[in-house]
Amino acid sequence: MSIIINGSPAALPADPRTSLLDLLRDTLSLPGTKKGCNQGACGACTVLVDGDRILSCLALAVQYDGRHVTTIEGLAEDGALHPLQQAFVVHDGFQCGYCTPGQICSAIGMAAEAKRGIPSHVSEDLSADVVLTRAELQERMSGNLCRCGAHNGIIDAISEYNTEVAA
Ligand code: FES
Ligand code: FES
Repeated sequence: MSIIINGSPAALPADPRTSLLDLLRDTLSLPGTKKGCNQGACGACTVLVDGDRILSCLALAVQYDGRHVTTIEGLAEDGALHPLQQAFVVHDGFQCGYCTPGQICSAIGMAAEAKRGIPSHVSEDLSADVVLTRAELQERMSGNLCRCGAHNGIIDAISEYNTEVAA
């Protein structure tokens, strides 16, 4: 049994109680994914599994046999920041940075959900294409908390990134 982390295979833990978050941080020395609440309430541990965002603190690593996991360490290419990482820098989308890896992974998964037409709580027309307005972004990113209160910059960064991707 193995799991693909940022393109490289890794062995799954012998102990089936190990969370995906602990596998990443403690066994694979990938500390970019953060442990905040460890109970599904803050979003700091968000990673992508086959492109979908999940909370790695609530996931048992063994559930993901053969799946592709992307963490914040896997987003940069050829030493260059991912465009969304760059947008966070430009828009002051962080202060301490603790929530940032989860925010960025979550935003990438969120954009894919919107592209598939998945509505949110604030979507008015469930049959229309999703337009990522500020209200939609705020609602769709509401599972990722920022204790530093950088939410305005975070939404600005995500908004700019999605506008560029759509252009
Ligand atoms: S550490 Fe996973 S949601 Fe907070
Ligand atoms: S930048 Fe500090 S928690 Fe978000």
